[in-house]
Amino acid sequence: MYTAAQEREYLDLSHRLLASPIAQNQEAADKEVSDLRDAIKYHDWRYYVQSEAVVSDYDYDQLFKRLKQIEANYPALQTPDSPTQRVAQGLTEEFVAVEHNLPMLSLDNSYNEEDLTEFDNRLRKLVGNEGIEYCVEPKFDGSSIAIVYENDLMVRAATRGDGVMGEDITNNAKVIKSIPLRAEFSKYGIVKAEVRGEVVIRNEVFAEMNEKRREQGLKTFQNSRNTASGALRLKDSAEVARRGLEAVIYQIGYAIDKDGNNVLGRGLKTHFESIETLHKLGFNAPVKEIGLYPTIPQVVAHVGNWEEKRNAYPIEIDGMVIKLNDYQKQQETGSTAHHPRWAIAFKFKARQAQSILERVEFQVGRTGAVTPVAKITPVPLAGVTISSISLHNEDFILEKDIKIGDTVVVERAGDVIPYIAGVVTTTRTGAETAIDFPRECPSCNSTLVKPEGEAIWRCVNIECPVQQEERVIHFVSKGAMDIDGLGKDIVKRFMAEGIINQLEDIYQLDYDRILALEGWKAKSVANLKVGIEASKNHPLWRLITALGIRHIGATTAKVLAKKVGSALDFENWTQEQLMEVDEVGPKVAESVYEFFHTEANIELLKKLKELGVNIETQLEEVVPANNKLDGKSFLFTGTLTKFTRDEAQALVEQNGGKLISGVSKNLDYLVAGPGAGSKLTKAQSLPTVQVIDEDAFLEMIG
Ligand code: IVH
Repeated sequence: MYTAAQEREYLDLSHRLLASPIAQNQEAADKEVSDLRDAIKYHDWRYYVQSEAVVSDYDYDQLFKRLKQIEANYPALQTPDSPTQRVAQGLTEEFVAVEHNLPMLSLDNSYNEEDLTEFDNRLRKLVGNEGIEYCVEPKFDGSSIAIVYENDLMVRAATRGDGVMGEDITNNAKVIKSIPLRAEFSKYGIVKAEVRGEVVIRNEVFAEMNEKRREQGLKTFQNSRNTASGALRLKDSAEVARRGLEAVIYQIGYAIDKDGNNVLGRGLKTHFESIETLHKLGFNAPVKEIGLYPTIPQVVAHVGNWEEKRNAYPIEIDGMVIKLNDYQKQQETGSTAHHPRWAIAFKFKARQAQSILERVEFQVGRTGAVTPVAKITPVPLAGVTISSISLHNEDFILEKDIKIGDTVVVERAGDVIPYIAGVVTTTRTGAETAIDFPRECPSCNSTLVKPEGEAIWRCVNIECPVQQEERVIHFVSKGAMDIDGLGKDIVKRFMAEGIINQLEDIYQLDYDRILALEGWKAKSVANLKVGIEASKNHPLWRLITALGIRHIGATTAKVLAKKVGSALDFENWTQEQLMEVDEVGPKVAESVYEFFHTEANIELLKKLKELGVNIETQLEEVVPANNKLDGKSFLFTGTLTKFTRDEAQALVEQNGGKLISGVSKNLDYLVAGPGAGSKLTKAQSLPTVQVIDEDAFLEMIG
């Protein structure tokens, strides 16, 4: 982008500007504005693209302040590409949906040399053997972005969205300094272009940000990918600017000349040329990272090198992308509905780390299930420090032969919950001790029970204090009654203070007593009251979910809520009737039947009703906006990266599909994200179930 001579020139220019008095007339202002912009643009590139500043923060700020001052004195000199325009633009009310000119497809995945050889064979069949060359580059683990330039000016930035429609995040993208506000595409005869890339947070920046949050007592971020994608959708762009985002641009989506012709394949003949061009234009494009190879064994060697050095690379990457270099050949191969045929992702294996199992704690959940939790010597893995891992149940411990003092292998794919993949038995000293699974509840000491055929030990004492606490925490949680202002820690405090003893107490709180508690003010008490009152009018499915009936999550609760006028109607239902409900199998039927045939639960519902909580079905059912999914049934499993579980479920319903809660022959589609486990295995064994990924699901609903 800048030659050594130019670099010297801009550095000298910066020093000269800082040493001279600010412009006092129009002519001097004209010149100084232009010099300041050149200088700041250079320093932005130095710092945000090259990662190394050549002036102090103080000097940079002085240059910036001068530019702002002159633009304020001479408003006619303001331009949309001035660095001052990166300053936060206030609040975005709502992100407007925008259509991508060219759909943003996803990539097919590969995991080993065989997969890549198949990919190579497919391509050779399509385009012949002549002149095949692959670009191999990192697959950046962030949030996709598409940025449009018209007549050299950045005019729009959008998220990927469903690949067809994204969200307009232009204001937020402008605060990302590695995205040039002006780039001279015109030098290459390009009047309009869209560049695509990934918004990421450098590992070092991410770690610092979390460190600061820890000091301030704020919740730390889980991983850089989710933090980046969350930040892009923040309404306050000043806050976006604080999240340390940067954009790596890995592709030109399209480039058009003044006659409307495609430049890719003509002016720019290869992907690599595009990357070099992007780099020259000031983008953070992976020129240095790309390897160019004619054969798959060479590609595999390059990928292997990267997998080895991935931890030393400053940005999180989750694999490599292999792309056919020649644009004309790319165009010949075309794309499927989901992905281009000319590119493929190679996914790295889950990251592993080793640590020592120091002790095991036994936690009691709201259903009384006792879960062993391994406390390990804290170990960094895939961006977070891990110190606690669920061991699921006694059988898991026995099967993996896990002992206290063992060196354990911890795995974590992306942001999937960490788990113990195994034990290193070769380093055992004999001092390791067996894990003693308690036979009494760690909270209330009552004898634990393990029903026939189950793997989990339970505390069946309904008065057990930890269970009570967990039940209330579940009741108020987001996916259940979603009571604003009543989070886990507050519930714990209220229960410790005796302000809440049982569920119904939520709706008969002594607000004066709360006001007298340390840290509570009239305003926070009023907010809490608003949140609690609002929850009284929630739809019935929320209450059914909140009751914590075993095997009933939000999906089944929604199905059940539609079947009755009031929750109390279930008192008169038989197990057979319950089984006739779509989705409800014997286990669920038994659990619902038992719940509604337990006196205490009926009393609770009556009490809640008396306190004003809605226990009836409201008539506004989801009316599908269209029939794209036409009665097909869906289930989501694993980690979802493109949408939340709630959003996914809403999408299914809005498009005329239905949700079911387990894998069975009634299931049409299992949408599996990374880390999918037993549901995926089961679905693969059923010929009628189609397993698809999130992108394919989005494709289905267009
Ligand atoms: S090329 C037509 N190259 O990976 C497909 N994608 O499903 C164009 N990604 O969300 C994608 N690094 O945002 C490409 N070097 C790279 C990439 C990359 C990360 C992301 C991309 C997309 C996902 C692929």
